[in-house]
Amino acid sequence: MTTVPIAMIAGIGAAVPAGVLTNADLERTLDTSDEWIIERTGIRERHIAGPSETLNSFTLVAAQRAMARAGVTASDLDGIIFATVTPDHRLPSAACELQAMLGAERAWAFDVVAACPGWLFGLSIADGLMRASLGDTILVVGAEKLSSITDYEDRSTAVLFGDGAGAAVVKRATGDGRGLLATYMGSDGNLAPLLHIPGGGSAEPLTASLLSEKKHFVKMAGREVFKAAVLAMSRSTDAAIGRAGLTPDAIDLLIPHQANLRIIEATAKHAGISMDKVMVNLERYGNTSSASIPLALQQAEEEGRLKSGMVAMLVSFGAGFTWASVVVRW
Ligand code: UT7
Repeated sequence: MTTVPIAMIAGIGAAVPAGVLTNADLERTLDTSDEWIIERTGIRERHIAGPSETLNSFTLVAAQRAMARAGVTASDLDGIIFATVTPDHRLPSAACELQAMLGAERAWAFDVVAACPGWLFGLSIADGLMRASLGDTILVVGAEKLSSITDYEDRSTAVLFGDGAGAAVVKRATGDGRGLLATYMGSDGNLAPLLHIPGGGSAEPLTASLLSEKKHFVKMAGREVFKAAVLAMSRSTDAAIGRAGLTPDAIDLLIPHQANLRIIEATAKHAGISMDKVMVNLERYGNTSSASIPLALQQAEEEGRLKSGMVAMLVSFGAGFTWASVVVRW
């Protein structure tokens, strides 16, 4: 990849459901404690959709905010790439449903299933499609309703996940140096059983017994995933910085996947980036999978931590396993 950007993020938007589940709430129903959750993860609360809120009800808000920020309307969109593991329906895609809600009639639309790094996979795909002249204005969404696949009786996962949506309008770079400087993606399907949903797919369709065995909920071997996440996020960071032709000191802000503060600290340490240059907001949102990085990116911009011309390093890891990184000049 050259360091002359082809694609740029022209506007970013985020939205979360209003409902908040605090560590104190979880203490009331689970054998856990606020102290354990903060010490082991850094999370204090997470947003959870109410019974009438669908994934696309809050994703629509994030998309509209991104489009307003970029100054584009629905008819400007050439395409929609929607990264999610929790679409409102198995069929059709969340992207097609969002296309209809937006009235983006010219846009092609499809989903990407790459778990937590899904939004970064989406950015890489948008960049590639732009290079192939298959679009000039692409909406890239990362959004999850993880509460729909979380077992709130399993303390090893219930304390981690939250709901949220982020979206970016990706446009052709303007030639002033701003845009995606490098992208990197990787996968290892051999490790799939460490973080997966065992039932409810076509291999084992939903049945009453499957539901009673809770096979439709996410299962995770936390400790093993933790180690793999640190390794893959560290390697991804090195790879994208190398592809961008930069050194770590050129990174103004590291925006890592918000799964665990200890993973974030280890990734930053490996990259030689001090914690004052790292965006952390997991204390408010928990792990929102594909929404995690756009939520943090939007907040970084809003708080003035990411200004025009600054270089941000985005890196993520998740089920699959999958990992990805993107270096962007804002
Ligand atoms: O987003 C995709 C990628 N996902 C991740 O990156 C998540 C990676 N994993 C993690 O973040 C951490 O492994 C967890 C936060 C999930 C768990 O932290 P840990 O330090 O690895 O804990 P552990 O699984 O090794 O468990 C330590 C102890 C166990 O008890 P014993 O066996 O030592 O008696 C667990 O049963 O902590 C216990 N435990 C809890 N205790 C209180 C597990 N969950 C809880 C809980 N509250 N919620």
